[in-house]
Order: sequence, then C-alpha cells, then structure tokens
Amino acid sequence: MGLGTSEQAAITSGSDFWHTEGVASAGIPPVTVTDGPHGVRMQASGDDMLAGVPATCFPPAVASASTWDPDLLRRMGEALGDECRAQDVAVLLGPGVNLKRSPLGGRNFEYFSEDPILTGVLATAWVRGLQSRGVGASLKHFAVNSQETDRMRISADVDERTLREMYLRAFHKVVTRAQPWTVMCAYNRVNGIYASEHHWLLTQVLRGEWGFEGLVVSDWGAVVDRVAAIAAGLDLTMPGPDAAGDRALVDAVAAGRLDPAALEKSAELVRKLVEKAGERPAGTYDVDAHHALAREIAGRAIVLLKNDGDLLPLAPGEKSVAVLGEFARSPRYQGGGSSQITPTRLDDALTGITAATTARVTFAPGYTVRGEADEALLTEAVATARDADVAIVFVGSVHETEGADRDSIDLPAPQLALIERVAAVNPNTVVVLSNGAVIATRPWDSLVPALVEGWLLGQAGGSALADVLFGRVNPSGRLAETIPVKLADHPSYLDFPGEHGHVRYGEGLHVGYRGFDARGQEVAYPFGFGLSYTTFGYGAARAAATAAGVEVSVPVANTGSRDGREVVQVYVSLPGSKVRRAPRELKAFASVAIGAGDTTEVRLTVEREDLAYWDTRLGRWIVEDGEYLIEVGSSSRDIRASVTVHVAGDPARVPLTTESSVGEWFADPRGAEVLGAAFAAAAGEQSGGLMSAMTANPEMLMMLGSLPLSRMAAFPGSPLNAGDLDKLVEAAN
Ligand code: BGC
Repeated sequence: MGLGTSEQAAITSGSDFWHTEGVASAGIPPVTVTDGPHGVRMQASGDDMLAGVPATCFPPAVASASTWDPDLLRRMGEALGDECRAQDVAVLLGPGVNLKRSPLGGRNFEYFSEDPILTGVLATAWVRGLQSRGVGASLKHFAVNSQETDRMRISADVDERTLREMYLRAFHKVVTRAQPWTVMCAYNRVNGIYASEHHWLLTQVLRGEWGFEGLVVSDWGAVVDRVAAIAAGLDLTMPGPDAAGDRALVDAVAAGRLDPAALEKSAELVRKLVEKAGERPAGTYDVDAHHALAREIAGRAIVLLKNDGDLLPLAPGEKSVAVLGEFARSPRYQGGGSSQITPTRLDDALTGITAATTARVTFAPGYTVRGEADEALLTEAVATARDADVAIVFVGSVHETEGADRDSIDLPAPQLALIERVAAVNPNTVVVLSNGAVIATRPWDSLVPALVEGWLLGQAGGSALADVLFGRVNPSGRLAETIPVKLADHPSYLDFPGEHGHVRYGEGLHVGYRGFDARGQEVAYPFGFGLSYTTFGYGAARAAATAAGVEVSVPVANTGSRDGREVVQVYVSLPGSKVRRAPRELKAFASVAIGAGDTTEVRLTVEREDLAYWDTRLGRWIVEDGEYLIEVGSSSRDIRASVTVHVAGDPARVPLTTESSVGEWFADPRGAEVLGAAFAAAAGEQSGGLMSAMTANPEMLMMLGSLPLSRMAAFPGSPLNAGDLDKLVEAAN
C-alpha cells in the first residue's frame, strides 16, 4: 500500500476523539466516527463532550428491542444512516449487543435483551439498514461487557460453553449475516485477558471462525498496550493521537518484537474503511419523517403489563383525566453517557394526552424534577387524582447511565408513595413506567388496575404513550427481559458485579429467563410477555426438519374486535439431552399484524445452527440427534401449542483414550466391543481379583465405570494390562 512503518503506526490510532488519522501524501483523508447507537451524536463544539448537534433521538435499544420486530430495526438503521450522511459521519458507534446479564446493569438501556437470538436478529436488521446507506456500524462491546462496575479492568470469568452459546452468539449472528464494517472491542478482560489484547477473541474466533472482514476498533481508551493489541488483532486505537503508542509500534517492528505484517494488515484495514466511507454520497434527511418514525417505533415498544377490567384504552372525550408525576411533563427518554443525543424535538406525555382527548386534563407533578419527595407536591397530586375519572401516574428510574451499575431495582420511595396514595383515592389508576432497565413491580402493581411499561422511548415517547393510552396504537411490545419478583431471585444475583477485579459468571448458561425456568421460579412478568387490546387464539403447530433447520407453522387468529399484532415466539428444548440445557430457549419469533376476526398462518424458521450447543470436548458446535420439543407461545410462560420433531444430529464421536473411563468406553459401540472382548479374554484366564468382583457385583461395576482405563490397568488383579492399552485405543478409534 506504500505506507512506511511510521505512517502505518500513525493511522492505526485516531487523530482526535472522533476522527481517524489521514495521510495526505497517500491520499487517505480522515473520516468521522461518532456515537451511536440510537441517534447521531456529533459533538457540537470542541470543549463540551456531551452537547451534540441536534439529531433524532430514536428509542434506545431497551425500547426498540421490545418491538421484537426486525423490520422496524432495519428502518431505524436506514434513518440513522441518512442522518450520518447528512453530518458526514462514516461510522456510527453501535449497536451494543451485550447481554443484559443483570437488571442492575447500568447500560442495559443501550442493550437489547437477555436472550442472544433476539439480540442477534434485531441487531442484524439494524446493521443492514444502516450499512445500506453506505455508513458503517460498530458492533460493540466485544465481548462480555455486561456490567459497568470496574468496566475498564474487570475480568469477566466465563466458561467456554456459556461464552459461545450466550455472550458471543449475538455477535456471531451479526458478523456472519451483516458484516459490520467495524467491531468495537470491550474495555474489560475476558477470562483474565484484556479484550483489546485477546488474540483468541479478536483473531481466532472473530476472523478465523466467523470470517469477519472489517476492522476492529478499540472502545475509547480500552487499549493498554498498542503492540500487544495489534499483535492480538486490534486495528484502530481510539481516541488519538497516541504518539507514544505509535513510537512503540515502530520500535517493536524494528526490534523484531512485532510482526510487520500485523501492523501492515491493520493499516490496510483502516485505509479500506476510509475508502469505503468515501463512496457514500452526502445526504439530507426529513426531520419530521424521522420524528414520526421514532414515534412509530416507540409506540410499538410500549409493553402493556396489566389491564384489569379493560381500563385501557381510554375513550377520547369520555372522562376527566388527572396526569400525575413530573416525568409526564419532563420526560425520561434516554440514559446517560456516550449515547446521549440532543434531540431535534421532544414530546412529553402531558402534551400528548391533552391533545388526544377532549376530556378535562389536570396535572400535578407529585415529586420534584430530580425525583425527590415533596410532601406538598404529593398532597396536591392526591387531591388532583381524587377529582378525576382516571388517574395516570408517571414514575420511573431516576439515574441510568454508562459508567455505573444500579444498586437496586426498586422504584424510588417518593414515586412509590405517589402510586400508593393516588391508588387509594382513585380506583381507575394507570401507572406508566419510564426506565432503562427492569423495575420491580411487586407488590405495588396489585394496587392498580393498569400498568404500562414505557421504557426510555426516545424523543417521541410522549406522543407514543398517548397513542397507546388512547388506543390509536394497539400495544404489541413484549418484554425482552424478565421482570423478577425481587432482585434476589435473579440468576445473576450472587455473582454480580464481582470483586477484586473478577466477576464470575456463576449462573453459566442460565441467563435471564433460562435461569428462572430452570428453577421453576415465579416471576412478576415473564420474558416475552405483553398484553394487547385484542386477544389471539392459536391453532395446532406443525414442524418439519429440513437441512436448514426446522420450519414451524401455526395458525393464529385475532379473536377480539380490534386489529392488533401478536408476537409469536418459538421456544425449543431437547428432553433427554446429553448436555445441560435450559428448559426452553427462544429460537425464532415474528411480529405479525392480524386484523380483527382474521386468522394468519404464521411461518417461522428455527435455524439449524441455533439448535447447536458448543461441545467443549470436541471444540465445535454440535446439533444433537433427537426429538426436539417445539413450543409456540405468546410468552415464555404462555405456551399455546407444541409439537415434537426429529432432528438428525451431527456426527460427534469423541475419540476414546486411555483417560476415557470404562463407562465411556462402554457407551461407545466400537469401544464396548473392543473393551468387552478384552474383559472376556481376561475372564477366561483369571479367577478372583478385580475381574470376578466386577462380574459378581453390579454396584461394583457401576463404581468401576468411572475409572479411567489407565487407572484401572494399574489395579492389582485388573483385567487390563498397562502394556495393552495403546492397542485397545487404536482398535477402538
Ligand atoms: C463507550 C462506547 C462509546 C465510546 C465513544 C465509550 O466510553 O463505552 O460505547 O462508543 O465511549 O464515545
């Protein structure tokens, strides 16, 4: 490519916070990269990191994921791409696909789900949409960045099966289906090694196994050692400039400590990225149309959790409505940190509600703008509620930000007091939540007939809430994360956020609903749950195995009197599996619009690769042979139809060795033949000793089953000769 070593070193770090380094003599201009993920955060001036050029603040991932609709995510990606073009941005820093391991995760609002398939499918659509506009994505944070506590140093200690099946699975999906232009490495360590220096992660898995063709960029400040990072497979260090690191790279190459090809490859990937970015035309976007799209997505993200007596939707004009809670007027619509957008406009729910009805709308803030208690405000709110036909109480979380985890999932006390006091004077109380991560709803939700999960909905959230409250939008959002009865029930509870630099992922594969289901535990609202203003009936499900996976179909009828959307979910399990599995795992889903009275045949594909588990003995993915149970439901705990299907397994013979146990030898057809013959021969020659104990006593036989062959051979009177073992192994394999 014609760049010298020092130029290669220079362009593998940024020129400032938001630009790559250019090399004018080589015709490489700098390009702009910026956050991400739910808006384009172009820093407006040199000194204020957080003041951005106004851009559409789309619903953060906590909300967009609750739509369960890849098509909406694709449209959001396209719109973001258009806004990037309008601001000359080459790469938008998102999406964030880390799993929500704990409801305390400070950045959960930026992540999609506790499930890797839901995350992977939605993020793939988003990346495809964005990149269809010639703007690159940055899939982050690779990998296992599921907490903020000590995020720049903590080691996420995870066993390989869990890592592969849970924490890497969404990354794998997005990389193999959408080829994001860049992948952003995480700050943290994974099993002791910094993600930025993790050769296995960045090179062996990402490039070697998954075929990633793009560039690996560091999270901002994640690189500790440039030389180690380049050697491991990291390409671009951000931010920059980093003169000392550049020098270290040049010196390392000169001293033979760094393969010059590694640096050259990274520099070439930066050049290619710049070249690709140069192909995108400039653009403009329609601010109103993007606001409308933000409203549409927000409306589809709202989850109706409770609606006793069909209190909702409210009829426009029939009632007097008291709107209570400062968040109705001063919306919580995004979280804090690098994703914070300066919106082009901001809808609040109070205005939205007032516009949606001809009823008398009264308002009282109930608590201060910072969420603090104020007895006078509370008293005023209760009086306002008492006089109205319906009271809508807006409450939610107060702080949710990058850089810190939460320490509780409970509602702040002043807001809880507002709910309790209002519900005591008005039986028609609706609670609307604004939160970026799960809030405990027990026991106070029993006090109110209606509960609306309004997440952080982006700049159009206020009008979207009015759309749902008044039935202009029939709610179809579903929980992408479980709402536990209490924090201590959560599978992550005992191992979050770790200590002394390590966090043990003790619940293993049983993240989120997998853990609740495995222990048969009660939850407040299950994964996949959400009500509608209509009802749906399911017919019998059918399933057929194909080379690509399992084709599932089920007729779903809208049995109510309103048009609506059902999110049909397919959960899979393998009863009798030889490996530990969760009782059910989401493998496919579809958000389907069904007109009142209509029936639709919903077809879904479970991809074969999603049936596979990671076999640690063979070091590869294996689809087990067997009768798979396919459960089709309206949530993870509302299964409406089920069917079994035989799936032919992958060949998965584990070679027998002298360290394989007697039981393992006998479980293998060829091994059983070979070892059986050896035992029979020994029985002919010997009497007494281990051999006769074995044959005389079945319990003894069971105990001996756990003996590795080499150990058995060492026992006095053993039917096996140490000298014969290698021959047995050869014969068996
Ligand atoms: C965050 C990234 C973000 C970057 C640039 C980091 O602190 O972890 O998600 O893209 O800053 O703002």
